[in-house]
Amino acid sequence: MAQGVSKLARKRRGAGAGASTEARGRTAAVAEERWSGRHLLQLRGMTAGALRDLLVRARGYEEALEGAVAADGAVAPVTAELRGRVVANLFFEDSTRTRVSFSVAARRLGAETIDLTSVGSSASKGETVGDTAANVAAMGVDALVIRHRSSGAGHLVVRTLERYEGGAGSGGRVCSVVNAGDGRHEHPTQGLLDIYTLAERFGRLKSFDLDGLTVAIVGDAGSSRVARSDIAGMTALGARVICVGPPGLVPSGLTSLGCEVSHELDSVLPRLDAVNVLRIQFERHEVGAGAQKAENRAPATSSNVIASVREYAELYGINTRRLGRMKKHAVVMHPGPINRGVELTAEVADSQRSMVLRQVTHGVAVRMAVLSACMSGKVAKGSYGQRAKEGVGA
Ligand code: CP
Repeated sequence: MAQGVSKLARKRRGAGAGASTEARGRTAAVAEERWSGRHLLQLRGMTAGALRDLLVRARGYEEALEGAVAADGAVAPVTAELRGRVVANLFFEDSTRTRVSFSVAARRLGAETIDLTSVGSSASKGETVGDTAANVAAMGVDALVIRHRSSGAGHLVVRTLERYEGGAGSGGRVCSVVNAGDGRHEHPTQGLLDIYTLAERFGRLKSFDLDGLTVAIVGDAGSSRVARSDIAGMTALGARVICVGPPGLVPSGLTSLGCEVSHELDSVLPRLDAVNVLRIQFERHEVGAGAQKAENRAPATSSNVIASVREYAELYGINTRRLGRMKKHAVVMHPGPINRGVELTAEVADSQRSMVLRQVTHGVAVRMAVLSACMSGKVAKGSYGQRAKEGVGA
């Protein structure tokens, strides 16, 4: 990791030497507990130490990116630690932020990138995601970044790759798998960048300790992989998380994930340090119609779980009036894409209290950290299945 940090960034980090003994102690403890995963499929089950390890790595890269800009006006690449390695983006669902961010992250690390989408790939001929992934890995690709509409697609790919590893033609290579969003399951790098954004906003970049912070996830939490990653990661680091929305979008069963559930946004607002606002994921509400719309490349706009989008916006949309009811320091986050005028107003999205673009910026450093950690060769002993049973979340 140290090789990824510029001289200027190291100097800046040194400027933080006045931090309290307690904070320095926590940072030292963070440095001792190392991430040893080869894949990142979910945040659920990861220890606070493993999460902090990734976030500390991300902080180093972010400082290096800022340092590189300040030093010579150019930022590419920040480090050559993945020179000669290939990262393949396999995106079977649309994406703007995640796909571009992984590409930028891989290039900043000196890796080459290739992009495959369902349009133009042999997925259209009925090839399974497991077979597609195994074939791409067989070309000597070092990491697969996968987005897929099916929950658990990343786990399926890992198990498929394990069948071929060590066999004829594998050349002893191992390939990492990073989940870039699978159905309603998880979006782990989004969870990490959301945590990073909170930590920056509340001065917790040394410890990544979210103790004492209350975060509401407002909107379609039941359909949301972002919500599941946020709940897992934020609660592991000490935050209180409340999912807020109508019962059709925020079922009470979500409490089993370790969050509170509320259907009354206005009564929750005064408790909040941050609100993470979710898009209504119409495409996941009506399975048949959603799939049809996805094929036709037109966004789905109807839902069988909420009666009226206008009424939803009135009851749960974040507007300036609601922003005024939150704590003075409270901020607004959104993973994107935003439907302005539905889950939040344009005025809020573009306000000083909106962290939306800051989240996107942090995504690059977070994904650099994840790619670097997964591809660094520090592969935990045992198969993926064994490690999953031992509680390693990814
Ligand atoms: N936040 C997020 O996953 O955005 P994209 O769908 O554009 O990648």
